[in-house]
Amino acid sequence: MCAVSSHDSAARSTAPMAPGRIPLLGHTPSLLRRPLNFVNSQRDRGPIVRFAVGTKTFYLLNDPALTRELLIDQGSDRGPFTKRGMLLDHVRRMVGNGLGTSDGDLHHRQRRMIQPMFRKQRINSYVDTMRETTLAQIQGWSPGRRLDFPDEIGVLVATILTGTVCGPGLANDVSREVTRDIRAAARGVGLRGMLPAAMTRLPLPGNRRFEAALSRLHAVIDQMIADTRARDLDRGDLLSLLLAARDEHGSPMSDQQIHDEVVSIMVGGLESSVTALSWTLSAVADDPEIDHRLHTEAVTVLDGRPGPSVADLPQLDYTRRVFTEALRMWPPGWLLPRRATTDVKLGGFLIPAGSYAVYSPYVLNHDPQLFPDPERFDPDRWLPGAITKDATDAFFTFSGGARKCMGDNFVMTEAVVVLATIAARWQLRRTTEPPPRPRPKAVLTPSDFHLTATPRPSA
Ligand code: HEM
Repeated sequence: MCAVSSHDSAARSTAPMAPGRIPLLGHTPSLLRRPLNFVNSQRDRGPIVRFAVGTKTFYLLNDPALTRELLIDQGSDRGPFTKRGMLLDHVRRMVGNGLGTSDGDLHHRQRRMIQPMFRKQRINSYVDTMRETTLAQIQGWSPGRRLDFPDEIGVLVATILTGTVCGPGLANDVSREVTRDIRAAARGVGLRGMLPAAMTRLPLPGNRRFEAALSRLHAVIDQMIADTRARDLDRGDLLSLLLAARDEHGSPMSDQQIHDEVVSIMVGGLESSVTALSWTLSAVADDPEIDHRLHTEAVTVLDGRPGPSVADLPQLDYTRRVFTEALRMWPPGWLLPRRATTDVKLGGFLIPAGSYAVYSPYVLNHDPQLFPDPERFDPDRWLPGAITKDATDAFFTFSGGARKCMGDNFVMTEAVVVLATIAARWQLRRTTEPPPRPRPKAVLTPSDFHLTATPRPSA
């Protein structure tokens, strides 16, 4: 790492900073040692700060208005910022050119074709798969059994994802191995995306395992596409929908594009969801009052049924708030870059061509001016009368604009189904120290932790 130059830290003020004057951070070794603390401690320096890593210059946005401008006002597919750059080009070589990694006209076309597949009504049709998969998994729990997180939730989320992408029937045939491979591939892509390309090609055991998992995943997806095409199946799953989709000229996607979209959805959707659900269960397990309210809501709404159906979802309001609060406290995507393709101004500040504007849901979600007492886990801060418009407008945990997360409604629905199904039947308690710590990798993963399951008296 090399420092650009040094600058005094200025106290945070509500007065707007003179456009064009961007604090430069001096020696920044803590960026590598404690990156989460580093980004979170820059807020008081102003709405935007500059630092360097190697030969690259980064502009960290500490301000919701600048983040909005980056993602929404100037975030279109033909705008001045791109996801292309150091990390993404490397990730694209591993996972192909799906929604998460493509840009420009291709991304625009694909997004228009895929968006309808993630509408609320379509996602509601996956609720039964989400519930039944959760029930099957918790069926295997026994009183006092120690559960390992995030692995326990990783198997569940990967099985749900496979079931919704390729249909529950096919998922049962292949899910065990696919589940393992998707997780290995998703974690590996996240890790390797941050390493120099040469290091990922060294013949190390970790690299070999990752390559093997990724190539098995590619092979299974090819097989799924071939099977679905051969049988002309339309089961309402995502794969059938991708095969049936047509652009505005009536043209379908090529098999390679469908393949890349499936990989993008699986790899992009998995670890974020696993991380968010793991943090949520950890927070619930550590707070008897939150646990009690979650359980009470689940048994009241379910009224003796083992898990929710679509009609129950609007009533599981506290459950949704608990998950939203976990997304605030520990946003999986905590630091995300965009590269300027040309000299461009953000809120009057010049971002030179080739440098990176970086937005951080973590910094915004922990801003005390938006979320008072930000280190407190408080699901009720999301009650309609309590949350401010400024805070909801600044909530970029799912990004925003043309690159907004495609799976936000999917994971919100999935989380409510999973949490209510578990809370109705099992109480989870953390019986080991220490509590999980955030590990700022590609996603903000919790360190491994264990919870113990106890059946609810009414179960
Ligand atoms: C808690 C769970 C999740 C979180 C917090 C999350 C967050 C995000 C964020 C921040 C982005 C934008 C990344 C950037 O700005 O560079 C994104 C993109 C994306 N997400 Fe998610 N995500 C989650 C779950 C999912 C799921 C379950 C799916 C699919 C089933 C999914 C599919 C995608 C796709 C396809 C993109 C790329 C969209 C595009 O560029 O057009 N995500 N997600």
